[in-house]
Amino acid sequence: MPKINFKTSGKVAEFAEGDEVNVLRTSIRAECGVPWRCASGNCGTDRILIEEGAEHLSPPRRRERERLGELMDQGVRLACQTYASGDITISWDPEQKGLDEDSELGKRLKKRWLGVMEDS
Ligand code: FES
Repeated sequence: MPKINFKTSGKVAEFAEGDEVNVLRTSIRAECGVPWRCASGNCGTDRILIEEGAEHLSPPRRRERERLGELMDQGVRLACQTYASGDITISWDPEQKGLDEDSELGKRLKKRWLGVMEDS
């Protein structure tokens, strides 16, 4: 059976061959610990680094690309927007917060989405 290896928490979740499973839903059901808030691609709290198996993932959609920006080029995805159809290994920062909350990247992206002009 294909597996999602949740490296940061040391948990592994299996799913049926031929299935395509949402990574965040799988984490929640099997208590694998990926942090999350909205489950709808908005907050960016559930950022995961794809360590292995990127070829078994659904291609990113526009919302995920817009949310992650350059992080996507570093192998980061949003668990709530990503589906796995084969073995993958992921990790994350257990303390991470939403993109708007604590990062310069988050602030820049938020300004872009909201069309807010830079304060200077
Ligand atoms: S949980 Fe908010 S973007 Fe995935």
